[in-house]
Amino acid sequence: MAPTALLHPFSPPALGPEGYINIVSGDGAVVSDDKGNDYIDAMASLWYCNVGYSRREVIEAITTQLNKIPAYHVFGPFANEPSEQLAARIAALAPVDDARVFFGSSGSESIDTALKIARAAQIHAGHPEKQIVISRSAGYHGTNYGGTSAQGIQLNREGFGDLLQNHIVVPQDDVEALASVFAERGNEIAAVLTEPLQGAGGVYPPPDGYLDAVRRLCDEHGAYFIADEVINGFGRMGTWFGSQFYGVRPDMITFAKAVTSGYVPLSGVIVGSKVRAPLEADPSFILRTGYTYSGHNTACAAGLACLDVAENEGLLARATSLGARLRGGLQSLVDDGLYTSVRGDGFVYALAPTEGKEPAAVRDAILAQGVIVRPLPGAISFCPPLVCTDEQVDRMVDAAAAVA
Ligand SMILES: Cc1ncc(COP(=O)(O)O)c(C=O)c1O
Repeated sequence: MAPTALLHPFSPPALGPEGYINIVSGDGAVVSDDKGNDYIDAMASLWYCNVGYSRREVIEAITTQLNKIPAYHVFGPFANEPSEQLAARIAALAPVDDARVFFGSSGSESIDTALKIARAAQIHAGHPEKQIVISRSAGYHGTNYGGTSAQGIQLNREGFGDLLQNHIVVPQDDVEALASVFAERGNEIAAVLTEPLQGAGGVYPPPDGYLDAVRRLCDEHGAYFIADEVINGFGRMGTWFGSQFYGVRPDMITFAKAVTSGYVPLSGVIVGSKVRAPLEADPSFILRTGYTYSGHNTACAAGLACLDVAENEGLLARATSLGARLRGGLQSLVDDGLYTSVRGDGFVYALAPTEGKEPAAVRDAILAQGVIVRPLPGAISFCPPLVCTDEQVDRMVDAAAAVA
């Protein structure tokens, strides 16, 4: 069949409508398609719907805000209450010294903003020579040009012409490689950008001590540590931020996805005082970056409601116990020889099929069992809503077992 008018992201433009599943509704951790099939959504859509679907509290908060005013921008000289309130709550939760929060709409925007702020801060601190951004292989940092240039997934870097200068991608787990870039070019490095647990690139927890080494090297060389928490943030790891799970304090944190569980798109950058000081020191300096929908009232109202749900329902603790159950179940499949390995932390895991089995084919087979997982390079991933039941977790494991 001929393709429809919709040009899908991360899909072949030539693919017709027969290649897609049309999701029409959702409730809790379950979504339904237009043919009446129900699926347990073991991926929280695209790693974001932590509070689950059809949450009355969130829908009511959005509707209340829409009835006041959907949005009014926060470029100078304007402000709005939902964005002020959400910024204050996020700043108080974040493992970042004396934090302030910048808002955007997508994770990619948050990445590009963090990279621009890091370089601007270095310039204003008297270090215009510090322009290099180091990132790690297997890191996914979105698809704008900044994030594409920092991409650690090679296929996502290719085919779009020249990328930005001054980006260095180091092997993901090699502290020595990172240290040697610092040793050679330390006075040119603006920032290190890394996810605490690498998500879309394969669900890789950091090796022991890796993030501490990033912190130490950044401190020794006057570089900023940017934690990309677009997947890690807002409860996925059983903590508000993955940086807390792994015991590090970055200078900036990028976030998106679960901050609103996707009810309205929202992203942001948490910016610590060390980065801001050179920018705040000059009263005439204007931060000439931002988005029409930075501080969008309705998106921020959704964010406030999602924080309430997470707090009121103890979703962080729930993520920890659900994660232990899922890990245990997946490990038993490995122990039985049905899969090769499992890795992850918190409530996000990757399961590697046995030799010769393609992750996309395993995904399709599990989908036919009524469970949505996602194929990654060499593995399938599980990143379920934090509101799913123990029984739903068991059904994810059973579905994976049934197709092995
Ligand atoms: C770690 C990380 N950073 C950035 C992004 C980009 O976010 P978005 O797709 O909202 O632009 C993603 C998206 O999956 C991500 O996982």
